[in-house]
Amino acid sequence: MRKPLVAGNWKMNGTNASNRQLLDDILTSIDDFADIDVAIFPPAVYIHQVREALKGTGIHWGTQNVSSYLEGPYTGEVSAAMINDFNCEYTLIGHSERRCLYDELNLDQLVLDQLLAEKYETAASSGLTPIICIGESPQEHDQGQTEEVVVRLLDTLIAHQGAKALSRTLLAYEPVWAIGTGKSASPEWAQNVHQFMRERVAKHDRKTAENLRILYGGSVKGNNAASLFSKSDIDGGLIGGASLIADEFVNICQAAAQHI
Ligand code: 13P
Repeated sequence: MRKPLVAGNWKMNGTNASNRQLLDDILTSIDDFADIDVAIFPPAVYIHQVREALKGTGIHWGTQNVSSYLEGPYTGEVSAAMINDFNCEYTLIGHSERRCLYDELNLDQLVLDQLLAEKYETAASSGLTPIICIGESPQEHDQGQTEEVVVRLLDTLIAHQGAKALSRTLLAYEPVWAIGTGKSASPEWAQNVHQFMRERVAKHDRKTAENLRILYGGSVKGNNAASLFSKSDIDGGLIGGASLIADEFVNICQAAAQHI
């Protein structure tokens, strides 16, 4: 049985005051979800605040990115050791907004996948649980290249680390065309891609594949979460916009708890 995870990626949103309010609202309305995992991914500067608010609540926290380097002259980067200092459980790796917009721009796809594999190695060997984001762009989607995109990254990871190493990680299928657009992938589409990813890992290691949690991300809301989470290979969600609204986020957690 895979325990679902509902992860709220706040992206670059929030202030001390608004975060406090949001966390208070979530904590007052969230049930004791013993059967699911819940995690919050604030901007790095607010990790301390989130840790203080969530300590002892059972909700986890993590970062939106991690450097592939251990330490050194890398201005603006955050290392796995720093993340560990703040008791983070998870880190996201390879979110499409980083791939498309920031330092990961202009890299050849294979080099990019290699960089993500290096980040994965650094995070996992530091004791963090990486959540690796995978998903096709709108163009790749239109050209029917979803499986190709997903396979390229999975194979790079497996070549780097071996399939067994995926037992220390989660995957998040986040089709770029569904992120922030209000157009979620249909539960059937997402299920097919998740199943395809699991089968790809199973070719190398069946047990790891069976236990691998694969999240779906892209316009998940309170009103579509239940139908997505009802699919057998969808093990929770990576939530953007709706994680900034306490009621929506709590509804999504409830939907995950109902589909264990
Ligand atoms: P939205 O839920 O806003 O579409 O964002 C999804 C996402 O990118 C989560 O990492």
